Amino acid sequence: MLPKIDPTTTKSWANLSELARHHRGNTSDLFTDKSRVAKYTHQMEDFVFDFSKNDVSDEIFSNLIDLADECHIQEGIKAQYAGELINETEGRAVLHTALRNFSQSNPHLKEVRTELEKIKKFSQKLLSGKWLGYTGKPITDIVNIGIGGSDLGPKMVTHALQNSRKKIKPHFISNIDAHQLNEELSELNPESTLFTIASKTFTTQETMTNAASAKIWFLNQGGEETDIAKHFVAVSVNKEAVSSFGIDLENMFVFWDWVGGRYSLWSAIGLSIASTVGYEKFEELLRGAYEMDVHFKDMPMSKNIPVIAAMVGIWYNNFLNYPSLAILPYDHRLRFLPAYLQQADMESNGKYVNRNGNKVNYETGSILWGQEGTNGQHAFYQLIHQGTKIIPTEFIAFAKPEHHYDDHHEKLLANFFAQPEALLMGKSKEQVEEEMGSRLIDSLVPFKVFEGNRPSTSILIKELTPYNLGKLIAYYEHKIFIQGLIWNIFSYDQWGVELGKQLAGPILKEIKEQKVGDHDDSTKSIMKHYLEMRK
Ligand code: F6P
Repeated sequence: MLPKIDPTTTKSWANLSELARHHRGNTSDLFTDKSRVAKYTHQMEDFVFDFSKNDVSDEIFSNLIDLADECHIQEGIKAQYAGELINETEGRAVLHTALRNFSQSNPHLKEVRTELEKIKKFSQKLLSGKWLGYTGKPITDIVNIGIGGSDLGPKMVTHALQNSRKKIKPHFISNIDAHQLNEELSELNPESTLFTIASKTFTTQETMTNAASAKIWFLNQGGEETDIAKHFVAVSVNKEAVSSFGIDLENMFVFWDWVGGRYSLWSAIGLSIASTVGYEKFEELLRGAYEMDVHFKDMPMSKNIPVIAAMVGIWYNNFLNYPSLAILPYDHRLRFLPAYLQQADMESNGKYVNRNGNKVNYETGSILWGQEGTNGQHAFYQLIHQGTKIIPTEFIAFAKPEHHYDDHHEKLLANFFAQPEALLMGKSKEQVEEEMGSRLIDSLVPFKVFEGNRPSTSILIKELTPYNLGKLIAYYEHKIFIQGLIWNIFSYDQWGVELGKQLAGPILKEIKEQKVGDHDDSTKSIMKHYLEMRK
């Protein structure tokens, strides 16, 4: 079981609080230590993680590592890998790492391999054009119908890894808002479209409603009930529900309850990845993640990359009161990474009850957001540079692009280097004055000054291969787990998503019956407006 330590009772927490009280935040001064960059830069195969621009002195860092120690995170990591039921409130083990562990030491290896073999055969048949639709045409489009973890992971990875040569075009339908369904279906030919209904529970309202509408669309377009097997497959842990939806169990891919929804892209939930980018790349993705797993499990805390990232985040969140983290991939292929990480992180660590069932008296999960560079620079970077809130940032870029427009890539990377430098160094009054020279207008000077000392982490990766992407995602997964361990919360349940769902049930009934039931005054009023507007 996981340790249940209140982090605020530790010695290092007290030390860090004291350090924070006197903290001046002059990160740029820390570079008078000429060994700083080497100390805070970690190289791992094709990756360079540069933590040196973070507002963390050696003393702070050493206390953060002590905090990790005092919170017994090693014990937590061991418990997770050992398959203990660390998701206590759901009585489940947390073993997404077993999906990518091909060593004999993995007790789940046999079932994982069996399912991977099935995914391999299926995706090869699709991509080789041997899987035929009901009129004998090969499949050209695959539509993943799922939401949350059954959408965001596969969508992010598929878009990251699919280069411009698309044999099978991926589509993702997640929202209950049928504008999305409508838009996607309007582009599709039922004869050459395959739907993957991806849902761990196979009860999620959005997914089941979209799946039912897709089935009706298929039947209305000329497909027969007997053709469904050629056009609908399912990924789930719930065989009964798949069967009663009308999908042949032969066409069902399984995973297990020890895989959490937002950690499931490594399982058969990744079917749409394998079916569009190819099985080999999917397996490479798993192997890359495994490499990070090994590092995470074996490395001492002070050299453990996900642990360092997590602890730096704890310093900002809990001691400097910086509430958010911006994820800034300088790569169009990673444009869905911020959205994917929002679920991974915020659904895991957005909790105010600790592992003893008591309300915490400190901050937990950060607010994650972000967008691909350089688009973000022309949108929200103003606030990051000169706003009143300090926003820690994480910049990600790849040295080698997959296109031949070198000039574009060099400009992109110039921005990737320039932004963290600008955030760190800022621009002083003297620099502004010198720059303005004879055109100096005193009243403008304060607006042109940048205070600097705004923290960032830079992750530079040689190229965006499936292997490297797997590693990058696993880095974030482990970081999330460590932060949850420190905060003494359960990172693998998600009770907070239930209440809204519960209330939507009776409200839906009222909408259908065109009447407003017993709610708070504001809800009653807006529902009445809605019913009026619908008349
Ligand atoms: O948002 C709640 C949630 O349960 C997520 O954790 C999960 O990824 C998503 O819904 C979808 O669930 P399912 O795969 O069971 O449809």
